[in-house]
Amino acid sequence: MLEHGGRLRRAAREHGIPLADWLDLSTGVNPHAYPAPPVPAAAWQRLPEDDDGLEDAAARYYGSAALLPVAGSQPAIQALPAVLAGARVSLLAPGYAEHAHAWRARAPRLCAAHELEAAVEDSDIVVLVQPNNPTGMQFARERLLAWRARLARRGGWLVVDEAFIDTAPAPSLAPAAGTDGLVVLRSLGKFFGLAGARVGFVLAPAPIRQALAELLGPWTISGPARHVARIALADTAWQAAARTRLVAGGERLGRLLASHGFAPTHGPALFRWLPTADAPALHAALARRGILTRLFDAPAALRFGLPADEAGWQRLERALAELAAARTTA
Ligand SMILES: Cc1ncc(COP(=O)(O)O)c(C=O)c1O
Repeated sequence: MLEHGGRLRRAAREHGIPLADWLDLSTGVNPHAYPAPPVPAAAWQRLPEDDDGLEDAAARYYGSAALLPVAGSQPAIQALPAVLAGARVSLLAPGYAEHAHAWRARAPRLCAAHELEAAVEDSDIVVLVQPNNPTGMQFARERLLAWRARLARRGGWLVVDEAFIDTAPAPSLAPAAGTDGLVVLRSLGKFFGLAGARVGFVLAPAPIRQALAELLGPWTISGPARHVARIALADTAWQAAARTRLVAGGERLGRLLASHGFAPTHGPALFRWLPTADAPALHAALARRGILTRLFDAPAALRFGLPADEAGWQRLERALAELAAARTTA
């Protein structure tokens, strides 16, 4: 099992700081999750049914009906190698590590962003995260569509994990889903803040969806999770307000880090990525102050999620000011 953000309990043990006293910035999950409505008793009692409106709500939200609901994008990430044929696999790196882990039996080539264009030429399958977690890297939509076309001509596949795209969804490839050679993954875990509900979608041509559905089996998403996801996907007023708030939060986080000399940073609204040689020391210094960030080692970098409230912002600001002062005197 790979390492992930959100390991707050372990940090609390290691630093002797009670769980409740932490500012957890280690994930890119919206700190203001969709307010899940009460779940009707029947959703607990009955087996989930496919025609409960979840797929229609998702089709409207994603702009395509070529979708399969899954229990978060994670099981889809794990199952894709079983349904996509092709020996030569290239992955954007650094990237969300579960992709490389899932494809490990095909010895994937790990490509920096500038190497991907060439990799499309001699790969059967290209996998990338857009915007990338953790680097925030984004490719132009037209460029990805051109890659898809080149791969599809040879029977290949472009897999685009759009887990973090919802705050600025214009470049999403989801509306193009159903065309040959394209698989798009979406998740309700980040923008909707419903990581615990375990709901995501695979947008892909019908044969791929059918093969995945066979593999993953019936009732992959629980009735209560389907209920909440359907309502969240249809709530355009909440989505618009959340987008505005998160975009403002992302800009504030970038400005705050830069104002203390922690720049440049990149990322979608939900997190900022700070590549810096002293990332391990900064991570430790923040943790001693009860602030949990996500540490990466290749390249050395920290990822900051958004504080949930004003007290969190102030606390982060104070810690960054102390760290910046220590940096200049060091
Ligand atoms: C880029 C990316 N894709 C997919 C996932 C998996 O999310 P979920 O299984 O909750 O949809 C994550 C989780 O951190 C992620 O960062």
